[in-house]
Amino acid sequence: MHFSHSLIFASLLACASQVAAVGVVGKAFGFAVGTTGGGSATPVYPKDIKELVSYLTDSSARVIVLNKEYNFLGSEGKVTEKGCRPSSNTCPGKGGQDAINGANWCNGQPSISVTYDKAGISPINVKSNKSIIGLGSSGVIRGKGLRIANGAQNIIIQNIHITELNPQYIWGGDAITIVGSDLIWIDHVKTSLIGRQHMVSGYAASNRITISNSEIDGNTSWSASCDNRHYWALLFIGQGDRITFAQNYVHHTSGRSPKIGGSGSGTIMHAVNNYFYDNSGHAFDIAETESGRVVAEGNVFEKVKTPLLGGAKFMYAALDATVNKLCKPQFGHNCVSNLLKSSGTLTGSATSYLGLFKGEVSPLMAADKVAASVKANAGVGKI
Ligand SMILES: *[C@@H]1O[C@H](CO)[C@@H](O)[C@H](O)[C@H]1NC(C)=O
Ligand SMILES: *[C@@H]1O[C@H](CO)[C@@H](O)[C@H](O)[C@H]1NC(C)=O
Repeated sequence: MHFSHSLIFASLLACASQVAAVGVVGKAFGFAVGTTGGGSATPVYPKDIKELVSYLTDSSARVIVLNKEYNFLGSEGKVTEKGCRPSSNTCPGKGGQDAINGANWCNGQPSISVTYDKAGISPINVKSNKSIIGLGSSGVIRGKGLRIANGAQNIIIQNIHITELNPQYIWGGDAITIVGSDLIWIDHVKTSLIGRQHMVSGYAASNRITISNSEIDGNTSWSASCDNRHYWALLFIGQGDRITFAQNYVHHTSGRSPKIGGSGSGTIMHAVNNYFYDNSGHAFDIAETESGRVVAEGNVFEKVKTPLLGGAKFMYAALDATVNKLCKPQFGHNCVSNLLKSSGTLTGSATSYLGLFKGEVSPLMAADKVAASVKANAGVGKI
C-alpha cells in the first residue's frame, strides 16, 4: 500500500516536472542577451497549420510548442509560370538549380516554365514576444518559412526544423528572414532543402541577433554550383545589425556561408566556435564596398575551399598569439585561434573596429574541441 502510494506520488511528480520543463532551454548570450520571447506565458500547442499561423501572428506574448510536423505543402496551391535557367545551371536536370523570377532576377536569362509551391515563397510574419519551441526532434515546419519584420522583436526560435521550401528553385523561399527588428535568438534550429536563403537579414536594421547551436544543412539535389551543395546559405546585410554567430554547424554548402555586408553602419558579426564543414566554394564573403565587419575566433574550417572570399579589409581572424592579444580590451580575453583543416587560407587582421564588439559575451572553447562539440550539440533534438 505504502509502496504503491509512493509510486503514484513519484509519477505525479514526474508529470509535474515534465509540464514545468516545457519552455525555452537556457538563455540567450552574445548580442541578443536578454531576449525573453514569450516569457512565462502558458504554453500553447497549435493543432494545425492554421492555428500555428494564428498563434505566431497575433499580438499576445506566447510560448508556442511544436510537437509534430506542420506541413504547408499544397496548402496555398501551386503556381506554374515563367522562370529561367541561369548561366550557373550548367547541369540542367542533373542536379542544377533553376530560378523563379524573384526580384526580376530572370531579366536576360533563358526562360523556362517553373512550377512551385506557393506557401514556400510567403513566410509567416511572426509578431513580437514569442517563443517557438520544438519538443524533442518532433517540431518541424515543412514548406514555409518564418519572417520577423516591421518592428517585431523579442523572439526566440528554438529546437525546430524548417525544411522543403521549393529547394529546386532559386527564390523558392527563405527559412528565416529578419528585417527591421531587435532581440532575436535562434537556437538549435535546423534548416534544410531551402530554395534561397537558410537565414537572411536586411536591409532595415535588426539590431541584436544571436544564432547559436544551429545546423545549416546545405545538402541538396538542386545546387546552383551543380555539386549537391547549397550556394545561398546565409546572407546578413542589415544596416546596424549586431550578430553573434556561435557554435553552429554549417555543412555541405558552396558559397555565402555567410555573406556579410550592408550599407550605412552595416552588419557586424562575432563568429565564434562554428564548424564549417565540406564547402566546395566560399565561407565568408565580406563585400569591400559595403560596411560588414567580422571578428572570427575559435572556428573550424574543414574541407572548406575558400574560407574567405575577398574582404580581408573587414575581417579580423584570430590566427596567432600576437594578433590574438588585440582582442583583450574589447572581449576581455585574448582571441582564440581559428583552425583550418584541408582548407584554403584565412586572412584578415583588421582591428580598427574591434571596439564595436565591446561588451559582447559568448562562451568560448579552444578550436580543437569545436568539431566534436558542435556535431554533438548543434541542430534539432539535442536539448
Ligand atoms: C512585448 O512585451 C513587452 C514586455 O512585456 C511589452 O512592453 C511590449 O509592449 C510587448 N510588445 C508587443 C508588440 O506586444
Ligand atoms: C544528402 O541527402 C541525401 C538524400 O536524403 C542522402 O541520401 C545523402 O546521404 C545526404 N548526403 C550527405 C552528405 O549528407
